[in-house]
Amino acid sequence: MKTSLLQKARAQYQPKLPKGLQGAVKVKEGAATQSVGDQDEIKKLFPNTYGMPIIEFVPGEEYAAREMNVGIILSGGQAPGGHNVICGIFDAVKRQNANNKVYGFLMGPGGLVDHDYIELTSDYVDKYRNTGGFDMIGSGRTKLEKEEQFEKGLEIIRELGIKAVVIIGGDDSNTNACVLAEYYAAKNYGIQVIGCPKTIDGDLKNAQIETSFGFDTATKVYAELIGNIERDANSARKYWHFVKLMGRSASHIALECALQTQPNICLVSEEIEKEDMTLNQIVEQIATAVAQRAVAGNNFGVVLVPEGLIEFIPAIGRLIDELNDLLAAHGSDYKDLDKDAQHAYILAHLSKENADTFATLPEDVARQLSLDRDPHGNVQVSLIETEKLLSNMVGAKLDEWKKEGKYKGSFASQHHFFGYEGRCAAPSNFDADYCYALGVSAANLIANGKTGYMAIVQNLSAPAEDWKAGGVPITMMMNMERRNGEMKPVIRKALVELDGAPFKKFAEKRDEWARETCFVYPGPIQYWGPSEVCDRETRTLALENEA
Ligand code: FBP
Repeated sequence: MKTSLLQKARAQYQPKLPKGLQGAVKVKEGAATQSVGDQDEIKKLFPNTYGMPIIEFVPGEEYAAREMNVGIILSGGQAPGGHNVICGIFDAVKRQNANNKVYGFLMGPGGLVDHDYIELTSDYVDKYRNTGGFDMIGSGRTKLEKEEQFEKGLEIIRELGIKAVVIIGGDDSNTNACVLAEYYAAKNYGIQVIGCPKTIDGDLKNAQIETSFGFDTATKVYAELIGNIERDANSARKYWHFVKLMGRSASHIALECALQTQPNICLVSEEIEKEDMTLNQIVEQIATAVAQRAVAGNNFGVVLVPEGLIEFIPAIGRLIDELNDLLAAHGSDYKDLDKDAQHAYILAHLSKENADTFATLPEDVARQLSLDRDPHGNVQVSLIETEKLLSNMVGAKLDEWKKEGKYKGSFASQHHFFGYEGRCAAPSNFDADYCYALGVSAANLIANGKTGYMAIVQNLSAPAEDWKAGGVPITMMMNMERRNGEMKPVIRKALVELDGAPFKKFAEKRDEWARETCFVYPGPIQYWGPSEVCDRETRTLALENEA
């Protein structure tokens, strides 16, 4: 593999570890825990892994080295820092006992089921230190949920003498990690399962997980690009840029980028849902800001659009819920129909209200909503071109207002979608350190015989050596939700809280940002240089930890 000069230099970076993980480690146990919702049902479904205490690692005495071969799975979308989680696990497992082996299951959870793996050696691992991407072992979205998959996985786990499997994934993958941990515990197989909180979306967070890894780097990459676009807009003064940002349902990425770059408009899906806004109201809101800026001669601006927006417009959300149930129950009936027949089938089977909403949607949006869900049952929102939908509708609204004499400016738009370009960036110092510490934590959870835990690192606004590492029972984050037409135990997804500090900060400033040109240009991620530039955490994390 030919490496860039940056990659060569960056390979020398030694991630900072919290004090609690620097030498021999001792477990400090907290009180018994409860799930965040539906306690009786979750307890019944997870009798062997429910109620366990939160764990913190503190400096301890040296102990006899432990024999523990470990298998690792990267699951779902890429997030910067995944390789460092693996490096952290690898270093800590080898430190326990140099004969311990670490295996990587290839291309996601499917690698475990299909017995597709490699043994990770130090030469191989060293090539990936502090790099972005998941290409060290690949990732995939196979959903681990069936007993035959668990049993198939067990065969290779036994063959390789693996003591524990670490699943590095988002909320859905960690839900599956919990189900797998419970299954192996119930069967007394003696196999531990540990999760690690990954996702650029930032929606795997709660009282124990301050942020998921990858959010820091990805938002810094997007904020750099948005800043560059803002500067271009402010230089040429002739375009409105509509930027869709990844993030699935939650608007954390869009909100964080807005806090970093101060665009004219940033839509927040969670607010749109709360205010029960229609698509037309959203369009009018944007068109009003465009018209107001035109009065001052500013026929340019930047609008940030979270990719999950469409699901949060209440009428469309209700439609999606019914479509999910319809597709789960009758998907096979209509799978082989042609495009038009599928459209007609859906219209004929929806309730009147939802059929009316479906009929008003542009064809490509309607099509995306009625296509297959991803393996976890999610609408594939990254494929819906909301940024174009909105700018077309804003353009049409402004044309109307022009005819009525209410608007005199000019409106030309450009479209962007930032998602994939941020998911594999070389991790920021924050993500490089955070991920390495998560990996070392995961290895210590294994060494201490834990299963059904997610590795955590807290106190993240402090310098890295004061971070606190440990583990949280995954059942603690669970509640029951409707998925594919059935109630299922899942990790509760964290959406933007409208009474949370990041949204409040944004709401305080947004009128001024819409009217004036208050752009901020963050520039590229810096790996060397002044700490206030290189080690700065996200605005979201800083504001949440200040509150
Ligand atoms: P995870 O939830 O698996 O971390 O994936 C994040 C994400 O990047 C979302 O933001 C996006 O909607 C989705 O993956 C895109 O999926 P794909 O990579 O399959 O196109």
